[in-house]
Amino acid sequence: MKSKMYSIHAEQYDLAVQDNLYNAHFERPNLQAMLDNLTGKNVLDLGCGSGVYAQFLLDSGAAEVTCIDASQEMIDIVSHKFSDRVNAYAQYLSQGLPQEASDSKDVIICPLMLHYIEDLTLLFKDAHRVLKSGGYMVFSTHHPFADFDYSTSGDYFKREPVIDLWDTVGEPVEVYFFRRALTELLGAVTHSGLLISKVSEGIVSEKIKTLSPDTYHSMRRQTPFIFVKCLKR
Ligand SMILES: C[S@@+](CC[C@H](N)C(=O)[O-])C[C@H]1O[C@@H](n2cnc3c(N)ncnc32)[C@H](O)[C@@H]1O
Repeated sequence: MKSKMYSIHAEQYDLAVQDNLYNAHFERPNLQAMLDNLTGKNVLDLGCGSGVYAQFLLDSGAAEVTCIDASQEMIDIVSHKFSDRVNAYAQYLSQGLPQEASDSKDVIICPLMLHYIEDLTLLFKDAHRVLKSGGYMVFSTHHPFADFDYSTSGDYFKREPVIDLWDTVGEPVEVYFFRRALTELLGAVTHSGLLISKVSEGIVSEKIKTLSPDTYHSMRRQTPFIFVKCLKR
């Protein structure tokens, strides 16, 4: 099921994530810390949203940026912002990367999208196919430990659909995603042939403490996201 937030509320989402706690001050600095120098690199941005990462990739000197998202509304925002400086198209990533050539990308990023995909097998298999040898993928997703709070079965190892209400865009909007065990998440990576080189649970910055002491203390006790870097040999 598609979460309405990313289509109906695409413009509000774009505004909200420019400077909010979870995306701008926690997720982005932690994922970006896992990226090497991007100058001259061909980069694929999976679940690109409204293009906050595309802006970062261009500013960091990437030679080519390709953005994919299920939401046509998000792709319209990206195309409007960047015109022909990025190649952007709409596609459900559960279908893998059928439009991307093998051995064509130096870097793949996938920030906060994987929890919307039920079966990760095809996407990681294609990420491995599309990366050049020596290339790498960095992703962030909901931390399996944090998402266990949503379990209705009480069985950590069972993948479960979750419906929740988030106020990211300034009003409560229903979101649908999947919770899964760490074994399933990391198993999909290693099954594809990618090698996990780094795992992080995120550093909570002093900036967050200044902006919201309550959020700072809660994130220090229970991290919301996990960050993984994986390499193609
Ligand atoms: C939390 S947003 C993250 C957007 C962007 N990566 C960022 O960090 O700002 C999740 C994005 O994943 C997209 N998405 C959700 N399910 C998807 C799917 N099955 N295939 C492709 N994109 C999907 C949504 O449309 C949304 O833009």
